[in-house]
Amino acid sequence: MRADHYDAFAVSYDAENASSLLNEYYERPAMIALAGDVRGRRILDAGCGSGPLSAALRTRGAALTAFDGSPAMVELARRRLGDDVPVSVADLAEPLPFEDDAFDDVVASLVLHYLEDWAGPLAELRRVLKPGGRLILSVNHPLVRVFTHPDEDYFATRPYSEEYRFAGEEAMLTFWHRPLHAMTDAFTAAGFDIAVVDEPAPSPDTPAELLTPRIRRGETTAFLSFIFFVLEAPGPRRG
Ligand SMILES: C[S@@+](CC[C@H](N)C(=O)[O-])C[C@H]1O[C@@H](n2cnc3c(N)ncnc32)[C@H](O)[C@@H]1O
Repeated sequence: MRADHYDAFAVSYDAENASSLLNEYYERPAMIALAGDVRGRRILDAGCGSGPLSAALRTRGAALTAFDGSPAMVELARRRLGDDVPVSVADLAEPLPFEDDAFDDVVASLVLHYLEDWAGPLAELRRVLKPGGRLILSVNHPLVRVFTHPDEDYFATRPYSEEYRFAGEEAMLTFWHRPLHAMTDAFTAAGFDIAVVDEPAPSPDTPAELLTPRIRRGETTAFLSFIFFVLEAPGPRRG
């Protein structure tokens, strides 16, 4: 999948992301909670989209740099974030235009699952992280396809496509499925320690009408959608 594929539906995706259960009330609050106290930290937002996570982390006192493969998403992020956040067009599948040891943390929300190869991108993200820095990321939970497509091979790393409606506009996305062990193998092969694996609940302030019926009825507290990791680049512990 080309790094600029979001150009075709950038404005619709941004509108959907701003108020959806999956982004506004689930993925983003989980990333913010995993990041914890970010005051004074230099953070790279990899695959920043239109910049909502960068904006939230900046409000919490971090200094952000961001990039995305879609020029249209970068344009939206620049409008949202203004001059004090450098936002560039860059492809996570290619060498990144940042110095070694430049960041305390990297956040990568819902972007790695577009890439077939994780070795190169993870090596690059580790390179730009300071020793002791963290890579905080989310991707599609690999078990979701087991339930929705039980005929498929869970254990194969392979592409699959899904149709979405973003704020009323149709979009086709192509992801790379990989089983959980292939994710953790890629993290450790890139030299990261796995500090946290998370399957969080939606934010407590989610409007009731957005929650799943089973959560509304009190039968469960969460749902399977994304999986979250906090990885640490070995080195001095964070202060
Ligand atoms: C699901 S959106 C998430 C955007 C943002 N991280 C958020 O959570 O709001 C995925 C983003 O990844 C970007 N992307 C996809 N492939 C990429 C690549 N190879 N390099 C950089 N960005 C990529 C897309 O352009 C899109 O903005």
